[in-house]
Amino acid sequence: MSYPYQITSKEAYQQAYKKSVEDPEGFWSAIAENFQWKKKWDKVLEWRFKGDGAPVVKWFRGGKLNITENCLDRHLNTLGNKPAIIWEPNDPEEHYRVLTYKQLHQKVCTFANVLKNNGVKKGDRVCIYMGMVPELAIAVLACARLGAIHSVIFGGFSAQSIADRIQDGNAECVITCDGAFRGNKTVPLKAVVDDALVQCPGVKRVIVLTRTRTPVSMIKGRDVWWEDEIKKVETMGNPDCPAEEMDAEDPLYILYTSGSTGKPKGVVHTIAGYMIYCTYTFVNVFNYQPGEVYFCTADLGWVTGHSYVVYGPLAAGATSMMFEGIPTYPDAGRFWDIVDKHKVNILYTAPTAIRSLMAHGLDFVKDKDLSSLRVLGSVGEPINVEAWQWYYDYVGKKRCPIVDTWWQTETGGIMITAIATVTEPIPAYATLPLPGIQPAVMDEHGHEITDMETSGNLCMKFPWPGMLRTTWGDHERCFKTYFSAYPGYYFSGDGCLRDKNGNYRITGRVDDVLNVSGHRIGTAEVENAINMHVNVVESAVVGYPHDIKGQGIYAFVITEGNHDNNDDLTKKDILETVSRIIGPIAKPDKIQFVKGLPKTRSGKIMRRILRKIAEGEMHNVGDITTLLNPDIVEDIKKGKV
Ligand code: WTA
Repeated sequence: MSYPYQITSKEAYQQAYKKSVEDPEGFWSAIAENFQWKKKWDKVLEWRFKGDGAPVVKWFRGGKLNITENCLDRHLNTLGNKPAIIWEPNDPEEHYRVLTYKQLHQKVCTFANVLKNNGVKKGDRVCIYMGMVPELAIAVLACARLGAIHSVIFGGFSAQSIADRIQDGNAECVITCDGAFRGNKTVPLKAVVDDALVQCPGVKRVIVLTRTRTPVSMIKGRDVWWEDEIKKVETMGNPDCPAEEMDAEDPLYILYTSGSTGKPKGVVHTIAGYMIYCTYTFVNVFNYQPGEVYFCTADLGWVTGHSYVVYGPLAAGATSMMFEGIPTYPDAGRFWDIVDKHKVNILYTAPTAIRSLMAHGLDFVKDKDLSSLRVLGSVGEPINVEAWQWYYDYVGKKRCPIVDTWWQTETGGIMITAIATVTEPIPAYATLPLPGIQPAVMDEHGHEITDMETSGNLCMKFPWPGMLRTTWGDHERCFKTYFSAYPGYYFSGDGCLRDKNGNYRITGRVDDVLNVSGHRIGTAEVENAINMHVNVVESAVVGYPHDIKGQGIYAFVITEGNHDNNDDLTKKDILETVSRIIGPIAKPDKIQFVKGLPKTRSGKIMRRILRKIAEGEMHNVGDITTLLNPDIVEDIKKGKV
């Protein structure tokens, strides 16, 4: 497979960018020609960011296709015996697995038939809660084969979070595992699903894959084993499964993500635009060359796993590594061992992983060969200069460009980044927008700033094929969240700087969303969870700088009765409550019991003050004269943990 749309020089980038702005329809339709369609589109783009029913974004209207034919079938003749997925298990002693394109195609077809036998049809929502095993990718692709809409939930979320997501999407089928291996732990996934399903009577079928042999309870009439269902399909003979003909704008998946409000929203991506955008960005950003081994360490529970472990790489006919474990098990050299063992050429990981490995010292990396590496990538949060330098010096051995890729669940694919071997990486800068991407920096009055060198809030002024189309079940919410702050623009929620050459530096969220170890967590969500605890009267959550996680979670909590900061039991109970309601990833790093919270006369919590205290900027909390209860500030400062 070669890529006629691959950018190989700075001039070609500039030309592509220019063309994409002057003639977006011509630009994207030329790229779309490289994919397999059952019927070509009638109109490349129809869009409206403001006005009635906005946002309206339709790419390739009238086009018919199936994304799995693009990810699998069309490669069978040329790449059939080449590895599509190489899977490295949690335990390095267990044998790794390779699935060639032929094998993956066959497994996806077989499992799609399993889903069919279990009542799943086009348009149904299927909830997937599994560990990072190849069957997770197979399940996702099998849904897409039938036109069922998958909703993958990260294995670290709680039963309550699963129940909320199942109810929001009205899923009738759940796919899970008995358990998942994570470092030296086993996570009992099926038991968590069982707890969730107490609240979800609409779920008719649970398909359970055996992975850890953790004991599970199988409910008669509802739960079936993955392996038994596969056998049934195989004994019936023909495991082939024709790919459902889908509309370009049919939903492909729902992925829940946190925002400023308490309830995560289901970001909806549709088929054709998303596929084309993921593939185009994958091939270009990483400068992928046919035959190379590409390793993205993300979990499929996050958008990075969707776009850059599964859809982008497979549609490009690449070899995609999938990793079950964690970077520090059995030791902090695990990534480097995988790179050497499988001769990985491109590595895509998160700053938080790099910082945690840095903290373990050079011993785990200095004797590794790593000569197969050619390109390094970073995603999920701003990469600090120290981490960038370490990644560059010790992992890339000063030979490999680092692409710092800025994007979001909502954008579907990478938006602002250097292009490996083509444009210049700059530490701490995401650098330049990809072709098709038209950023705008907004001032405090809501106007676009036209000066090159500036700072402000980051928006997009023109649609791109990979962007979200709606939030599941609530289009108004999509409009309010992303398109109402700056009418006519998509608002990212991030702040940025732009230098005189047009390079962007992302400075972080400007809303009430935290980025903890690269995971988005809404402060309101955590507050709601803390407030569920019987002893809690009120709470306020803010972020603070954390060496490894990027941001840590700091909770100020008012409890009933007298609790001083040594009340470990109540603290533990609160942590347990947050784990139960959201999941362990949302547990506060610090809890401070307080007698009151700084509030304005209208009763609004002044988070700005709490943020300063949490950051340790005690002398510089700003104006407190407008507070209803200014005295409380000194009190809170004294009790800082
Ligand atoms: C942040 C992850 C700086 C940003 C793909 C964004 C980044 C949020 C970068 C989206 C980066 C992601 N530099 N910040 N290279 N990449 N972010 O939806 O705040 O999990 O809004 O998508 O992560 O997180 P999400």
